[in-house]
Amino acid sequence: MSEFKWTNALSVGDESIDHDHQELFALMDELADADLSDSFLLGIIGRLEDYTEYHFTREEEYMKLHDFPDLEEHIEKHKLFVEWLKTVEFTYRRSAESPFQIGDLVNEYLGVWLTDHIMVEDMKYRDFVIEQIRQSKKADLPIKEE
Ligand SMILES: [Fe+2]
Repeated sequence: MSEFKWTNALSVGDESIDHDHQELFALMDELADADLSDSFLLGIIGRLEDYTEYHFTREEEYMKLHDFPDLEEHIEKHKLFVEWLKTVEFTYRRSAESPFQIGDLVNEYLGVWLTDHIMVEDMKYRDFVIEQIRQSKKADLPIKEE
């Protein structure tokens, strides 16, 4: 079991995005629990790459849909993470380091990054969308006739 967990405190208010985040935490659990072999590690890194790409696209579409003003900044953060994953894969393919060590390293970084990213960055668009909904509800209020 990974020490990092998805909890309600990490909810961004969108079911699909929350589901994606839960899947990423589940991948971390797999990584933490598995008896790591070379092929398993490369397999899970590959799945992480695929899933993050899929998830980031969904999140970016969601932010676009809501005209989130800090979209570009957020996309940059996603790009850096994708680069990190590619570096891990590249390093692993080149070095003969123990898969256990790499597995722990990947898991630790991934857990810290994901928790931190959701708590800090994803919450920015959550708050923005909540405020948008609040404003639109306010605008929809029927005008009282005197
Ligand atoms: Fe994000």
